[in-house]
Amino acid sequence: MIIRMRNKKSTYSNSHMQEDNIENSENISDDYAEDIVDKHEQLGMEEKQNTVMNNTDESLTTISEQSQINDVTNLEIQDIEGIGPTTAKKLREAGIFSVMDLAVAGVEDLAVDINASKESAASFIMAAQKLLRESDVLDKEFITADTALKKRRSLLRCSTGSSMLNDLFLGGIETQAVTELYGEFGSGKSQICHTMCITAGQPIESGGLNSGVIYIDTEGTFRPERLEQISSSRSIDPVHALQNVAVCKVYNSAHLELIVKNLGKYIDDYKAKLVIVDSIISLHRAEFSGRGTLADRQQRLNSIMHKLLRISEIYNVAIIVTNQVQSAPDTFFGDPTKPTGGNVIGHASTYRVYLRKSGENRVAKMIDSPYHPYSEVRFTINEKGTDDPEEGKKSKKG
Ligand SMILES: Nc1ncnc2c1ncn2[C@@H]1O[C@H](COP(=O)(O)OP(=O)(O)OP(=O)(O)O)[C@@H](O)[C@H]1O
Ligand SMILES: [Mg+2]
Repeated sequence: MIIRMRNKKSTYSNSHMQEDNIENSENISDDYAEDIVDKHEQLGMEEKQNTVMNNTDESLTTISEQSQINDVTNLEIQDIEGIGPTTAKKLREAGIFSVMDLAVAGVEDLAVDINASKESAASFIMAAQKLLRESDVLDKEFITADTALKKRRSLLRCSTGSSMLNDLFLGGIETQAVTELYGEFGSGKSQICHTMCITAGQPIESGGLNSGVIYIDTEGTFRPERLEQISSSRSIDPVHALQNVAVCKVYNSAHLELIVKNLGKYIDDYKAKLVIVDSIISLHRAEFSGRGTLADRQQRLNSIMHKLLRISEIYNVAIIVTNQVQSAPDTFFGDPTKPTGGNVIGHASTYRVYLRKSGENRVAKMIDSPYHPYSEVRFTINEKGTDDPEEGKKSKKG
């Protein structure tokens, strides 16, 4: 399968942060400070820090070990132009074993990991991408719009469990994209994630991805019993469904960064086409709470988000991240809440969806998308996970 590289929200740029201005944000509100920090990151500042982290090979406890489809190439690191045995060895020591791993690496991270200049690191990454392009794994730099359209029609879409919610996504949550779900507590973010653990394992004709799922749980809210309930209510074999989901409980931000760094390997191991990060920001928010640490936090989140975006494109997986909300007191009209994390999260997310409670039901609204209309739909949460509300079921039938 040919994988398309997106140009919106560029992933490979490499601007630098101006520390002075960030320091100036000390006396202003958190929200505004996030925005100021973000202004310096909007061009997609790449990974800078090199955090020392524990070995977490054991982190992903599979409830599974199966499934099929995944687009892996048989290309070797040594096949890349300009990479000899010595560099290949350094790369392996840095945990980069495949051309795909190298193609999704961040320049600054790689430079530190292999003790090379940023220029060399960038040239290795670009050479890996060039090889993937030549092998038709990635698109050529330029393709005509009609070819691009044909490729988009071959994207996979995963059902959310509710046909109304699927309509919002024009058919389901897409691969090769990062979809951000944000909303207040109880708005249904984790419930959508749980439901999709079940739907993703279903055949493609039934709205699934016929694949495994990786669930990165940073809040300790993953519940296998709920998966059991959702699958049984949908007449899906729970034993098989649960075996399809690899869950990783993450305890601190450095751990999350390490998991994301090695995500390509886990995607291969678990044959995953859906990766869930629930939630993307809570750990960083808790650990980097002082104003002095805000720039560092935003930079780390930016690095994670851009890595996720590259992975979604190169591995052809759907990535869902959940995000919390904070109040935006400067809002005069409409809902005075906005997603946390400033522009760093929004800028790297392909689609942003706002969830809110509405009586017994929930409302989902497309806030940012390159092509979806700004519509909103209602859905509900019940024993089947996310589902259509009663009135929606009737109107669909009628
Ligand atoms: N088995 C169930 N049947 C019906 N509704 C349920 C069931 N399980 C959970 N819910 C509903 O889902 C809500 C929790 O939603 P969810 O866990 O998705 O919130 P969230 O948006 O992830 O919030 P947070 O920000 O706290 O993580 C509960 O308040 C309840 O209304
Ligand atoms: Mg939740």
